Amino acid sequence: MSVNTHHRQLLDRITSRTARIGVIGLGYVGLPLAVEFARQGFTVSGFDVDESKTSQINAGKSYIPDVPETELADVVKAGRLCGTTRMGELANMDVIDICVPTPLRKTKDPDLSYVVKAVEAVAATLKRGQLVILESTTYPGTTDEVVQPMLEAQGLKADEEFFLAFSPERVDPGNQKFNTRNIPKVVGGLGKASTDVAAALYESTVDTVVRVSSTRVAEMVKLLENTFRAVNIGMVNELALMCHKMDIDVWEVIDAAKTKPFGFMAFYPGPGLGGHCIPIDPYYLSWKAKMHDFEPRFIELAGIINESMPRFVVDRVTEALNRRSKSVRDSNIHLIGIAYKRGVNDVRESPALNVMKVLVEKGARITYSDPYVPQLREEGLHLSSIPVEQALANGCDCAVILTDHTEFDYAYIARTARAVVDTRNALRDFDSENIVRL
Ligand SMILES: NC(=O)c1ccc[n+]([C@@H]2O[C@H](COP(=O)([O-])OP(=O)(O)OC[C@H]3O[C@@H](n4cnc5c(N)ncnc54)[C@H](O)[C@@H]3O)[C@@H](O)[C@H]2O)c1
Repeated sequence: MSVNTHHRQLLDRITSRTARIGVIGLGYVGLPLAVEFARQGFTVSGFDVDESKTSQINAGKSYIPDVPETELADVVKAGRLCGTTRMGELANMDVIDICVPTPLRKTKDPDLSYVVKAVEAVAATLKRGQLVILESTTYPGTTDEVVQPMLEAQGLKADEEFFLAFSPERVDPGNQKFNTRNIPKVVGGLGKASTDVAAALYESTVDTVVRVSSTRVAEMVKLLENTFRAVNIGMVNELALMCHKMDIDVWEVIDAAKTKPFGFMAFYPGPGLGGHCIPIDPYYLSWKAKMHDFEPRFIELAGIINESMPRFVVDRVTEALNRRSKSVRDSNIHLIGIAYKRGVNDVRESPALNVMKVLVEKGARITYSDPYVPQLREEGLHLSSIPVEQALANGCDCAVILTDHTEFDYAYIARTARAVVDTRNALRDFDSENIVRL
């Protein structure tokens, strides 16, 4: 069959929703995407190495807060979504979408081992006419330098006998306004044929598709977006440290600055960066830039400032206790919110964990409240979330607001806590001696 025939056949299958889609990696990114493809009428197989996830899917249970259980159960019942750990079934897919983790090694170098494992599984059964899309965030060049050679080693030619594209995932867990469907999707293929089929796939599922000229541009788009956030948060965290020295309220400064109707975008200080994206992705870019003999200064500087914030929070806790002639050692400290941001159950890279680690090292006794994270195993501790009211009634010496979930009763905290360090300006409406703001 000619290139054009494979291309046309795949486009026909996408348009008629008869293309079978495989999504590899059913986490915060892969599960919402798999459900959305299924809701649009495709038959989707979700592949994961974690059997507990695939069996929950097959039982119609959602383990990702952004995926409503009814939506998941509906597509499973209709036979349009199933979960499997049998990677050999990739052979039956027309489209394969890879959404596996891309963490950092301890040295802050990219850890592509999950991507490599997933691509090995795809390569093992690669067929003529398949479309393979990488969605995991990674450095520019991953698709054509790593994925393409692994797949072509099977003897088929990319952009001719099979199609290959990169499309960065932009999902924002906990965001009520923007979801898989209405967040514009950037797509860059290895060549025109690959871009065409990948764009057609997303056009069938999301509202807006933005085509770019290559996989490298698409990879860089995602890193620009996340580096933009990391650097701006780093800048505003530095401003917070500066304001602390100058005795100026940084929150008031930002609120007034954001009244400027152009040329300003508000970013907020906090206890540090968290989640699987912003603290990690810029280092993918930094690593690659260094391979090109380029020293990326903004990324490194923002990293230093952002990573120093948990220690600054501990300094504020020390100050709050000091006011009451207490030391950190042997104090009861209650952490309020430990997920990395409001409204999510994800504790990956959460700065709350670093704050907790330093406080434990200094001899504090730690408890925590987080309605999204009932149990926590960290730093050799096995903790269960307790109600804020219980912690305050039990005589906690200092509370620390680390994540401003809407479920907490801030008026009660402001009124009742002996001392409270507020890293999120959650107590903006309260003024009291016991409050220490970031
Ligand atoms: N979480 C976010 O908000 C977000 C947003 C945009 C982009 N991303 C990017 O998307 C990618 C995935 O992130 P995530 O948060 O969904 O991760 P996750 O850890 O929630 O999910 C990844 C899933 O992949 C599975 N997996 C790992 N190796 C596998 C393999 N070889 N075969 C099959 N399954 C495998 C894991 O078991 C897990 O279920 C990352 O590159 C991340 O940077 C994440």
